[in-house]
Amino acid sequence: MKALVLSGGKGTRLRPLTHTMPKQLVPVANEPILGYVFRHIRDAGIKEVGVVVSPETQNDVRGFLGKGSRWRIRVTYILQQEPLGLAHAVKIARPFLGNSPFVMYLGDNLLAQGIKEFMEEFDSENLDGLIFLKEVENPRAFGVAKLNKKGQVVKLVEKPKTPPSNLALVGVYFFSPKIHKAIDRIKPSARGELEITDAIQELMRSGGSVKGQILEDWWLDTGKKDDFLEANTVVLDDYIKRDIKGKVDRKSKVIGRVQIEKGAKIINSNLRGPVVIGKRCEIVDSFIGPHTTIGHGTRIINSAIEHSVIMDKCYIENITRLEDSLIGREARVLHQKNQSRALRLLIGDNNVVEV
Ligand code: DAU
Repeated sequence: MKALVLSGGKGTRLRPLTHTMPKQLVPVANEPILGYVFRHIRDAGIKEVGVVVSPETQNDVRGFLGKGSRWRIRVTYILQQEPLGLAHAVKIARPFLGNSPFVMYLGDNLLAQGIKEFMEEFDSENLDGLIFLKEVENPRAFGVAKLNKKGQVVKLVEKPKTPPSNLALVGVYFFSPKIHKAIDRIKPSARGELEITDAIQELMRSGGSVKGQILEDWWLDTGKKDDFLEANTVVLDDYIKRDIKGKVDRKSKVIGRVQIEKGAKIINSNLRGPVVIGKRCEIVDSFIGPHTTIGHGTRIINSAIEHSVIMDKCYIENITRLEDSLIGREARVLHQKNQSRALRLLIGDNNVVEV
């Protein structure tokens, strides 16, 4: 079994956050989303991974994944000149995939559980396709499946205006090599992309055995902006263990599942988990409350922050209460007089906000 990770595209949707980084590298609990994808692939025992990159994303993605040695995986980069669709990405990856079955994992998708169990299911049931479905509130933003009374998939439509159900396609798909012939037979959609949904539909039409399975646990398409704070919350809830590598002075209190990375200093502050504090941070005279991630090299002085993501190298000073906020790299949030209300902010990289 090989894996194909899709990390191309233009990454326009998370702007301003992804203005300066591909969406697959946006950190959740200080780990880029691609890091979770690779962890799941490694845990399934897969050793060979093709990574589809675009001219815009390739440098950053290569910078993070390298040759894959951190996960003991061998990475082959596949350059897709234009984002012509998920099935197009499979098409150009064919020399890498050869005749191997594979899992295609969209690089901006986050799953609670790994993929090992699903890989075993795909193998043992001799399937040509195993896809995953999850109920969502806004099916128009996804590929959507229609099931028959027996729960079998009968139809797949990409971003339908009138969705046949509220079951969205999750961005993890297992395929046998039969998918390649199906891709050869489909045409670009109205939006000009070779759609994987059309290819799966064609695979079913031509007699391939495709199983759709409803996912029990959480799944997030982090490419969709509003999910980002939620992703941080669920990842902190599910993945974070107490681990204190930085320095905590005697006047500080660290309660619950708090991860403090190397070189960070906590001075006269209270931290209540789940919280992640990045490398070389300085937290002085402050309170950091549940579901907060503080990026590397950020300084928080005399402030209280809860349920927020503050990215790398930010500076926050004298903010009485900051919550439900997302703050991009190198932003500065500083206090001015008479501020007493809670603040809610979405701030991109390199901004200055004085309140
Ligand atoms: O997240 C699940 C959804 O992902 C599914 O429900 C949809 O059926 C599927 O089409 C896809 O929809 P998105 O609109 O989220 O796809 P997006 O364009 O964001 O691309 C998903 C990932 O694949 C992203 O990491 C970029 C990468 N990509 C995308 C295209 C179109 C490529 O590498 N090459 C491409 O040509």
